[in-house]
Amino acid sequence: MNAEKLLEVSALCKYFHVSGGTLKAVDDVSFDIFRGETFGLVGESGCGKSTLGRVLMGIYGATKGKILYGGAELNPNRPGARFRYAKKAQIIFQDPYASLDPRMTVGSIIAEGMIIHGMYDARRRTERVTELLEMVGLNREHANRFPHEFSGGQRQRIGIARALAIEPEFIVCDEPISALDVSIQSQIINLLHDLQERLNLTYLFIAHDLNVVKYISSRIGVMYLGHLVELASSEELYARTLHPYSNALLSAVPIPDPRAEREKRRTILTGDVPSPIHTPPGCPFASRCPSACGRCHAEKPDLREVTPGHLVACHLT
Ligand SMILES: Nc1ncnc2c1ncn2[C@@H]1O[C@H](COP(=O)(O)OP(=O)(O)O)[C@@H](O)[C@H]1O
Ligand code: SF4
Ligand SMILES: [Mg+2]
Repeated sequence: MNAEKLLEVSALCKYFHVSGGTLKAVDDVSFDIFRGETFGLVGESGCGKSTLGRVLMGIYGATKGKILYGGAELNPNRPGARFRYAKKAQIIFQDPYASLDPRMTVGSIIAEGMIIHGMYDARRRTERVTELLEMVGLNREHANRFPHEFSGGQRQRIGIARALAIEPEFIVCDEPISALDVSIQSQIINLLHDLQERLNLTYLFIAHDLNVVKYISSRIGVMYLGHLVELASSEELYARTLHPYSNALLSAVPIPDPRAEREKRRTILTGDVPSPIHTPPGCPFASRCPSACGRCHAEKPDLREVTPGHLVACHLT
């Protein structure tokens, strides 16, 4: 893996002002993404993954903290910055159907970004649409059809072609396979993996299931209630899980062999996820953690490096 940092995220917060108060969707998150890697981001629904992805995309401005992209500070509020950054960073959504305009042909959907960014003349754009369709496993005839004529997997391929059209470097894949049949999921994962090697792409790959990120990610960050609670290389995270929440997430991943499933030590999550509006003062996981002690309810653990490259936020490690 190339060690050049493409993104440097420090003490990033994204708060929403809602009727009940301030909702801390992303709270004091710091990590880097290296060029050419896949950084997997996992955690239960509502823990702030999509919000973090959108802040890194420049769709939302950060409430606090800093993001460097290629060494330069990302500030989407600066005039023109969001537009210039959109040329480098693209997003693939969970539900490709909702994100594809049903009135547009697939060819115009894919060409739209190239037009907006003033890329190529009309003839070259048409050629590029064909190239992109072939790159994602579709063909030139598909350019004249409409999104509803395609299956879920094919629509996700169209979403990928659209994201690639403007030749980005960084792609946020926000649960790109969660809405697809299991049989199609691995095809899309393999496609994303091949495209990454071919085009030297960097991915932030969001999933709620650790099984999904294991094979595609070089490193994985585990999020809970807006916080990053553990970060390690993919192999390390599975071989030496340190945070009780990561452990619980891993226990929830089904193992195909039924005997292994029965013999596996299970950590069942009990208790409710606290509201992100009234966050507790101590460890965010304390209300559900089987190992919580007095200190956990009073003092928030910092994310610290316990072995090279393995970071965890827990008083017990
Ligand atoms: N635009 C918004 N306005 C207010 N609250 C939001 C908004 N977007 C997300 N949230 C809240 O922020 C938290 C994190 O949401 P999200 O980032 O979508 O989580 P995830 O992608 O992990 O499921 C949730 O409590 C959600 O309700
Ligand atoms: S700090 Fe305490 S509550 Fe939080 S994960 Fe560690 S043991 Fe559990
Ligand atoms: Mg989400």
